[in-house]
Amino acid sequence: MIHAVYPGSFDPPHNGHLDVIRRGKTVCDRLTVAVLGNPLKSSYLFSLEERVDLLREATAGLEHVEVETFSGLLVEYARRKDAQIILKSLRGALDFEYEAQMAGLNRTLYPPAETLLMLASPEWSFLSSTRVRELASLGADVSGLVPEASLRALRAKFG
Ligand code: PNS
Repeated sequence: MIHAVYPGSFDPPHNGHLDVIRRGKTVCDRLTVAVLGNPLKSSYLFSLEERVDLLREATAGLEHVEVETFSGLLVEYARRKDAQIILKSLRGALDFEYEAQMAGLNRTLYPPAETLLMLASPEWSFLSSTRVRELASLGADVSGLVPEASLRALRAKFG
């Protein structure tokens, strides 16, 4: 039974995240999307509860996928969940250095979990939650970039 955790802030979830979840679940038996609730970072647009609800709605119907929160060290969470895979997404070379560093440190801290870096699909390789928040706050139509749940939530925030 291969259990993968896919950690992130998901502020808000976008189509690139959903693509990684759909593709990621094909390489494991169980995929837990782990939403970071970091008390040190108070600059999230959406609360932890909102981000979890958005992901649960967007992943409803996807078998073997669950959404949970975590705080503190990712590897401690992976250890508690008995996860063998930490799933991350790479959009391009800019992500690589950052992800390679995290993967190396996480592996040193907790060798049983392997980081699996999944290349973002080309159509989402430009997408980030930061850009989605910026675009939505400036009134752009982001309906082609985010799932319905996030679109509704962004419209509620920005009108
Ligand atoms: O979506 P994000 O904000 O890029 O996700 C970053 C995340 C949650 C994967 C990363 O910040 C993380 O793993 N945080 C948990 C704290 C931790 O374990 N830090 C040490 C990493 S070597």
